Amino acid sequence: MSLSRRQFLKLTGGAAAGASVAVAGTGPTQAAPADVGRTTLPYVPKVVAHAGQLRENTPVMFSFPDAASPCVVVKTGAPVPGGVGPDHDIVAYSVLCTHMGCPVAYDPSARVFRCPCHFSIFDAEKTGQMVSGQATENLPSIVLDYNASDGSVRAVAVNGLIYGRQANVL
Ligand code: FES
Repeated sequence: MSLSRRQFLKLTGGAAAGASVAVAGTGPTQAAPADVGRTTLPYVPKVVAHAGQLRENTPVMFSFPDAASPCVVVKTGAPVPGGVGPDHDIVAYSVLCTHMGCPVAYDPSARVFRCPCHFSIFDAEKTGQMVSGQATENLPSIVLDYNASDGSVRAVAVNGLIYGRQANVL
């Protein structure tokens, strides 16, 4: 028996469609990973400073959430969004530029972080907002928690993705 081209296409197209329906309808079902939809990563809080020991505009380095993630805490001297401590002026950031990961440096005169590689600038008083340069993302800010009873400042989370990572907690 010979088939016309039209009949052949009609038959094979129908078979292909039938196969895809069979795959979609009978394929194995996989249980979703437990973390799907999770919005809070398992950060381990860490004391990074004591409010009484921080000097205005003098950044102090620390690492969070692990040793491979350099960060800096700074007392800006004036209340700022997200600022903690008795004066609501203590903030912290990842120092890895969101463009290509160069370490940014704090400029106390302008209260910004400057990247030496391609000159991006991030505002330390506005939650790390990108001001200019090659970066397109804000500098990740470290969420801080202040304990008034002993003056300790803890890092408890990160807003934004640390450069080079798919997740802040590895
Ligand atoms: S790495 Fe910072 S601007 Fe390029």
